[in-house]
Amino acid sequence: MFKELEAIYSKPAPFEFYTAAELWADSHTSEKMLEYHLNESIDLSSRNTEFIDRSVAWIISHFGVEATTMIADFGCGPGLYTIRFAEAGADVTGIDFSARSIRYAGDQAAARGLRIDYICQNYLAFDTDKQFDLITMIFCDFCALSPSQRGVLLAGFYRYLKPGGSVLLDVHSLNTFHSREEIATYEKNQLDGFWSADDYFGFLNIFKYAEEKITLDKYTLIEKDRTRVIYNWLQYFSRDTLGREFEAVGFTVEKFYSDVAGTPFSETSPDLAIIARKPEVR
Ligand SMILES: C[S@@+](CC[C@H](N)C(=O)[O-])C[C@H]1O[C@@H](n2cnc3c(N)ncnc32)[C@H](O)[C@@H]1O
Repeated sequence: MFKELEAIYSKPAPFEFYTAAELWADSHTSEKMLEYHLNESIDLSSRNTEFIDRSVAWIISHFGVEATTMIADFGCGPGLYTIRFAEAGADVTGIDFSARSIRYAGDQAAARGLRIDYICQNYLAFDTDKQFDLITMIFCDFCALSPSQRGVLLAGFYRYLKPGGSVLLDVHSLNTFHSREEIATYEKNQLDGFWSADDYFGFLNIFKYAEEKITLDKYTLIEKDRTRVIYNWLQYFSRDTLGREFEAVGFTVEKFYSDVAGTPFSETSPDLAIIARKPEVR
């Protein structure tokens, strides 16, 4: 027991393991996640409808979205943004590795007679010949990626954009990093059975990496016949650290906001959004 508990309490190196698929795309958790996406009262997997409507209205007006605009939404989930972009006339591609979310998104589009290109794939392995005007990645999914994964993704974004095209994405700010605390707790059927339909004991160990500005929510799930560990990493950013990652692959930083609804940047905001542009060819 002592050895097992030592393993549960052990702190891995930053981004040592990547288990995002078990959080989002597993047949049991993806069903729970879809409920969260569609649940108005919790901003857990998607934000609430009032925010999404406001955000999409701002995006449409800021980027002048119209019938010829090509948009790709990375980590589109059940299509809460993609469907609105398509309703505004845009040519939309949504990428997500949750088969359940992509199925739901496709059904919603079909029911409205909208043509949206949904691709069920890990976006880190995505490639396309399409050229977009706008790439979005919404609700801080960028934070879950390691520095090298973020570099690969941003280099891909640069390639998939037309000259003059933009990326809009949001991340957690350092204010949120400072508000997080290290804890260790366990519970039977932790998170109301989120992790499995069968009984399990869930340990949650939250670790902070002070220098790197990373947190890890490490879930150790002990079921009757198996033990799993799920690592939920989050990288927190300042304007400088976020901007530098975009500039490293050739983007020009256009502007920072507090969120993807165009709220002006504030030093006290929990999140931070960036618009970065691929330079026009001279
Ligand atoms: C926080 S949710 C946000 C969903 C959507 N952008 C929204 O705001 O409604 C993150 C989404 O990214 C997807 N996702 C996470 N990692 C992924 C990966 N490596 N490849 C593809 N999709 C991924 C998840 O399945 C989930 O739908």
